[in-house]
Amino acid sequence: MFRDTSMDYYPKEEVKALWNANMSFTDEQLLAMDEVEFRARVRERSHHTLEIQVYQAAYRHKTISETQADTTKRLLRIWRERGLPEDAPEYKYASFLLDAAEKLTRGEDVDLTPYKPTHVTKEMEDAFFTIVKERRSVREFTDEDVPDEILDKVLEAGLWAAHGCNVQSIRYLIVKEKDHPGLFKGSDVPGGPIHLVICQDMRCYRANCFTPLRNRLLDAGAAGQNIVLAAHAAGLEGVWLTFPNQAFVDRLKETFNIPEEVRLVTYVDVGWGDQTPYPPLRWNVKDTILHRD
Ligand SMILES: Cc1cc2nc3c(=O)[nH]c(=O)nc-3n(C[C@H](O)[C@H](O)[C@H](O)COP(=O)(O)O)c2cc1C
Repeated sequence: MFRDTSMDYYPKEEVKALWNANMSFTDEQLLAMDEVEFRARVRERSHHTLEIQVYQAAYRHKTISETQADTTKRLLRIWRERGLPEDAPEYKYASFLLDAAEKLTRGEDVDLTPYKPTHVTKEMEDAFFTIVKERRSVREFTDEDVPDEILDKVLEAGLWAAHGCNVQSIRYLIVKEKDHPGLFKGSDVPGGPIHLVICQDMRCYRANCFTPLRNRLLDAGAAGQNIVLAAHAAGLEGVWLTFPNQAFVDRLKETFNIPEEVRLVTYVDVGWGDQTPYPPLRWNVKDTILHRD
């Protein structure tokens, strides 16, 4: 019988124990905590204990309790005591939520109009679907160099993917074949020219270590999908690839001295495309629907 182990959930009792342990850190423990883990906890706690509540209060006039912001407030205090940068994304995000929560508890409005997304015009919509449908797995490339600015744009798109519990685990290795010839021996497309390895710093998941395991791989998958789309949108082409075996992964980890807690999940090769494959056609939507109300 087919059993999908990625669906496994932690036993209820274990979740409860982990949850209680998670909620009872002393200041000393938070001050001494590994920085990667602490920062992930700021992102995760602010998301789960404040973000959702702030928007419910702002949009649906649900009352927000005086103590709702306490966890975020405390984490921000510890952040400052640790001397971490106050222009860091999670500090700014958590501070915004804290400020909004304070306004809402005082009965004041929070102005969210500056965050309204750009209006999507018909041209933008058409361009988006063209990118989605015309992105192909391209496995032949020219020798022309790709400027780092374009690569950064593509990698940034990976970071803007949705991420379970906002723990933001994604990290990268950018490996140019010309600088490490043969390192990707055994890959389906060993020649690169540029290998973008999608990694995850697993310390981030200590912030919410009981979510279903499948979410962790999905976090890397979401980044990967943004990356292949962004590469095509930026004029590059690429192909999503599979590590052929553990020895291959170990070789990369060793070469770049990657800490044990960082796992290499998958990789995408990009470059200037030199191939226009016939699209592997997809099913009609109606043939994929198992149920529709
Ligand atoms: C998770 C994943 C792993 C993949 N691994 C490989 C691979 O090892 N070798 C390869 O040539 N293509 C690989 N591909 C690319 C697929 O073969 C390709 O996406 C599929 O054939 C559909 O073609 P299209 O991307 O042009 O639409 C992979 C794609 C995904 C999403």
